[in-house]
Amino acid sequence: MSDLAAVPATYETTLSRRIAAHAARLTIIGQGYVGLPLAVEFAKAGFTVAGLDTDPDRIAALATGRSHVPDVRSEELLALLRAGRYQATAEPGVLAESDAVIICVPTPLRKSKDPDISYVVAASREVAARFRPGQLIILESTTDPGTTEELLMPLFEERGARIGEDLFLAFSPERIDPGNPTFRVRDIPKVVGGITSACTRLAAALYGEIVPRVHVVSTPKVAELAKLYENVFRNVNIALANEFSLMCRYLGVSTREVIDAAATKPFGFMPFYPGPGIGGHCIPVDPLYLSWKMRLSGYEARFISLADDINRAMPGHVLTLVGEALNELGRALKGTRILVLGVAYKRGIGDTRESPAYEIIATLRRKGAQVSYADPHVPTFSVDGTELKAVEPTHEELQAADCVLVLADHPEFDYAAIARESRLIVDTRNSVPDDGNPHGRVVKL
Ligand SMILES: NC(=O)c1ccc[n+]([C@@H]2O[C@H](COP(=O)([O-])OP(=O)(O)OC[C@H]3O[C@@H](n4cnc5c(N)ncnc54)[C@H](O)[C@@H]3O)[C@@H](O)[C@H]2O)c1
Repeated sequence: MSDLAAVPATYETTLSRRIAAHAARLTIIGQGYVGLPLAVEFAKAGFTVAGLDTDPDRIAALATGRSHVPDVRSEELLALLRAGRYQATAEPGVLAESDAVIICVPTPLRKSKDPDISYVVAASREVAARFRPGQLIILESTTDPGTTEELLMPLFEERGARIGEDLFLAFSPERIDPGNPTFRVRDIPKVVGGITSACTRLAAALYGEIVPRVHVVSTPKVAELAKLYENVFRNVNIALANEFSLMCRYLGVSTREVIDAAATKPFGFMPFYPGPGIGGHCIPVDPLYLSWKMRLSGYEARFISLADDINRAMPGHVLTLVGEALNELGRALKGTRILVLGVAYKRGIGDTRESPAYEIIATLRRKGAQVSYADPHVPTFSVDGTELKAVEPTHEELQAADCVLVLADHPEFDYAAIARESRLIVDTRNSVPDDGNPHGRVVKL
């Protein structure tokens, strides 16, 4: 017998072999925009995956192969269900049978704009309550720096786990961009930071089976901060583009023309564009996780709060543009027909979380405008307790509108037709051709 064979297998070597053989059983907690594509990617790679979620409707739909996210086709989900590689369940008992558990639950803000990590805590408690020696636990939800070490680790230690020996714990931020066909889960490198080097090795090995590159960092806190820095960077640069659009308006030049010219520089510049305001689960929310944490230490994160102020003022600016454009035609908001194109927070998806369309449509309605909307991804949209139903942006609808307001530049819209048919267009996404409107009335950010 060789010396190697005499060494008893550790929990790390056992799990690492199961990962390499794709024999490890996985549970992904949270089957939303992040968790479902991740579960499908692992299942496609040959792992047996359980998608655990507390939402019974979501589980019922997934269990019959109906996907609710743009990055997962229902046919591929159905094929994985039939092959026994994926199961959707609301039963937390699957956790005890899992070799690895990845947590992808929401991390929203409270009304006070403080982080709400109650979902992470609830999910982690479920996992810790069923802790079995040899498991790998990874948190992917965006969160404030320190969560993995200060909040999750004690939950497992209380249950007798020895981190790095019989329980492996790491943070690896999700970076998915829902609806982006160029960069899917399998195309985006993962950042991984474990509590110990064994934790990092195992988490890196697991992701290494589905992504092109794993970038290892020294601690979970570095990985947590890397995600926050990515989104602060985006938030601040969007705010800069938004403020720049206000300045260009004063100066009488096209913001887009200036940014596109600057973007020809092949180094040191990355273009960001103005919009009607930020939305979704990440950009308006994540930076405030960091500023909240810093405030606990008496430090005010100035860039974050300035960017937040500028971005949150954009819906108001769009309302001013609509009011001014109508005014020039001798019209008041009251009684005018406004057709909003796109109520999702961004192009190509049906996600309306934190969408600026809420504030814009609610204010237009309060001021007496008759608002309808078209959005191929959002069949109904509730504003101030009233449920609006999407209309088709037909020739008749466009011609009947006093103002067409583009908030999300979905690829399904025919922008040449919109330009041709509409009397007045306020285009917050630069999607309508400049010379396509015979009336010459197109207002852009
Ligand atoms: N959506 C994005 O574009 C994106 C991108 C990168 C990172 N993130 C981050 O990923 C995390 C998840 O975001 P998401 O967009 O997938 O959210 P989501 O709301 O689409 O999905 C979360 C799911 O978790 C479920 N859930 C909540 N508590 C649970 C529990 N205790 N047990 C089991 N299931 C539970 C919910 O029912 C829901 O289905 C967040 O921290 C978010 O900031 C999101």
